[in-house]
Amino acid sequence: MQTVTIKTTTKEYDVVIGSGLLAQCGERIFSVLGKCRLAVITDSNVEKHHLKTVMSSLEKAGMDCKSYTFPAGEEHKNMGTLSDILEFLAKERFSRADAVVALGGGVTGDMAGFAAAVYLRGIRYVQLPTSLLACVDSSVGGKTAIDLAGGKNLAGAFLQPELVLCDVDALKTLPQEEFTNGLCEAIKYGVLFDEELFCDFENLTETSLISLIERCITHKGRVVANDEFEKGERKFLNLGHTIGHAVEKCSHYQIKHGYAVAIGLSMIARAGEKLGITEKGTAERIELLFKKHNLPTDTVFSTEELLNVALSDKKRDSDSITLVVPKKIGACILQTEPIENLKKYIALGGEKDGI
Ligand code: GLY
Repeated sequence: MQTVTIKTTTKEYDVVIGSGLLAQCGERIFSVLGKCRLAVITDSNVEKHHLKTVMSSLEKAGMDCKSYTFPAGEEHKNMGTLSDILEFLAKERFSRADAVVALGGGVTGDMAGFAAAVYLRGIRYVQLPTSLLACVDSSVGGKTAIDLAGGKNLAGAFLQPELVLCDVDALKTLPQEEFTNGLCEAIKYGVLFDEELFCDFENLTETSLISLIERCITHKGRVVANDEFEKGERKFLNLGHTIGHAVEKCSHYQIKHGYAVAIGLSMIARAGEKLGITEKGTAERIELLFKKHNLPTDTVFSTEELLNVALSDKKRDSDSITLVVPKKIGACILQTEPIENLKKYIALGGEKDGI
């Protein structure tokens, strides 16, 4: 069992990583929140595997809990599902003393967290991530959101959870494709901050998983502690996301987030090399590692298609855009560019010559 404590300006909380945590969630949540009512929000996939374990653990700890299940998939991370969750909370008369429990992957965590942020102007919530992507990234740091027709995560709020329990046993029930989806966000921390971590993903074993997750979360916790509201340093965590979100949206979310970010990260590294920002050979190392884990490194979408979507990305600051560009494995820079230069990065990133 490993614990990382996240210290932000608004809250201090533990992220616990280990085995058997869903079955122990009742006593652990009770010790943090005290006696209150809990709304467990999950999706139709996760419900089958884990809802019973979680509900019986919560009940055993003496907590009154109700559950709400929405249909699985990024296409349901929208205003309609958020509204259904909020109506459920109101119908069940949850109060400000109560809390939401987000049981599932990134979609559930983002949406249940957003529901907690706006219901009664904000109630507490706990994250029980069941996907690798949610464990290493989205369950930690307090970003909550839904997608709008205009783009991914365009409506949301910052609200830190009270506790995060990453049960690595839940990762065993994941389809391989879903596990691979999370690997990209984990490898991202290696490219950003930690060459040794990057190398360790080349030799991934089941036994090293708890330590790898702990190292990713430690990096994320440090960044979030320094810049909770993404005014500066937290922008680094968007490595691969500007082009990645565009790929995801162009595919109508048929390409999963981690796969799309792998494409975005490969493209920005290739563009960085051609522009002389990125050390030679870096893009190739990144591509080789992604390929080893069956992650894609390029896309069928054209520069124009990606550009149109990327221009509506929320990370754009009016006439400029801040891109995260690798200098080498383990070190990246924030590159603020006039908006018209984005086209150059996408076009250069799409060319594969010399790699
Ligand atoms: N997923 C990026 C962040 O939490 O800032």
